[in-house]
Amino acid sequence: MKTTIEPFRIKSVEPIRWTSRAHREALLRAAHYNLFLVSAGDVLIDLLTDSGTGAMSTHQWAAIMEGDESYAGSRSFDRFRASVQEIFGYAHVIPTHQGRAAERILFSVMCKKGDVVPNNTHFDTTRANIEFVGAEAVDLPIAEGQQPARVHPFKGNMDVAALEELIGRVGRERVPLVMLTITNNSGGGQPVSMENARAVRAVCRRHRIPLYFDACRFAENSYFIKLREPGYDSRSPKQIAQEMFALGDGCTMSAKKDGLANIGGFLCTNDDVLAAQETNLLILTEGYPTYGGMAGRDLEAIAVGLQEALDEDYLKYRIASTAYLGNHIAGHGVPIVQPPGGHAIYIDARAFLPHVPPAEFPGVALANELYLEGGIRSVEIGTLMFGAAARMDLIRLAIPRRVYTQSHIDYVIEVILEVWKRRDRIQGLRLTEEAPFLRHFTAQLEPVQPVRAG
Ligand code: F0G
Repeated sequence: MKTTIEPFRIKSVEPIRWTSRAHREALLRAAHYNLFLVSAGDVLIDLLTDSGTGAMSTHQWAAIMEGDESYAGSRSFDRFRASVQEIFGYAHVIPTHQGRAAERILFSVMCKKGDVVPNNTHFDTTRANIEFVGAEAVDLPIAEGQQPARVHPFKGNMDVAALEELIGRVGRERVPLVMLTITNNSGGGQPVSMENARAVRAVCRRHRIPLYFDACRFAENSYFIKLREPGYDSRSPKQIAQEMFALGDGCTMSAKKDGLANIGGFLCTNDDVLAAQETNLLILTEGYPTYGGMAGRDLEAIAVGLQEALDEDYLKYRIASTAYLGNHIAGHGVPIVQPPGGHAIYIDARAFLPHVPPAEFPGVALANELYLEGGIRSVEIGTLMFGAAARMDLIRLAIPRRVYTQSHIDYVIEVILEVWKRRDRIQGLRLTEEAPFLRHFTAQLEPVQPVRAG
């Protein structure tokens, strides 16, 4: 069959709310032209993030009822740890309330001022947690990963020669760990190949530097390897994940992505000494080692979710449905980061709105138009988020897991193409209020030309 269908039927539904264009104009004005400040109830299709926004399965909900809320030694933790260890294979599993808590603990223990942490591309919380301890976060993506229109099967790869050069330049003793983010979120949801992970590990081994994975979207990455890397088509996504994690010494994980849970995360390591230090920090801020920052029921949802995320029918649908959106709009000329990523489609707003200069926030302008046209919420990744340092102005349409059907996505395509038709009439914005850091969350803006009513 040609059609890839959702490999589930729907047992519980959540209504979504229509608003009129006039109402959305008023809502956007009241939100100072910043979609973070719009209430979720006034959004029809919410593509702000794929993090914690997925739908759980009947098996997850059933497991939640089995949650053991004991403070110490809960059965739910045993099930959680067994599920994590089966896939990831690391000796120590430290539960945290979400990915960034795992990052904070890892970098507090492993990094100090003056250290350098290489990664294919750091996610923003990862970078912030490294900088918080006074270390430097260095992105080393391959050259192809920095060109939106360029097609490459593993655009998330790390530049191995650049890694070798960096270690040589700053000295091995200043590099406490190397990280690989799978998939590479900030680089467009692009996968990392097994071959690249092996090459990175070889460099790490030679210099005796530990390798850690930022594993948030490991299942999607495994499926891309199955589809695209020679020698992997007959391996299961789980076998591929196991092979990849065996190359590392540990990982951080946000279970809000490929854990198919609404909250949760963990930190893994094979190092007994580090694990003891990490556990001490965990107790200080997250919780006792058998629950971390989570309830017993959260541990249960993740134990089941991690396994479901590796299901081949699910991954086939997941990757196909993201590509469906990307390929349809690209087919009509909309400039996207190619090829479509695993969890999101990124539109190149500078190419979409060439008449809006970066200083007038083309990404914000485009995201706002998609909201005005059809009640769709996306997020700018560009000049508002990163300031003048932004190399690109993109908007990300992140697809929550198992939430929207193909007709929702057909609607999103229609809205984007409507906006594409009248793109030359879209104007930029200027800032009226901004916070000293992470300004995109709270910034207030206004159109550069006053908007006429009606
Ligand atoms: N690493 C990556 C690659 C991520 O994408 C995220 C979160 C984190 C770490 C942090 O995990 O949110 O559980 O603390 N990404 C979300 C997003 C927020 O929208 O891409 P967290």
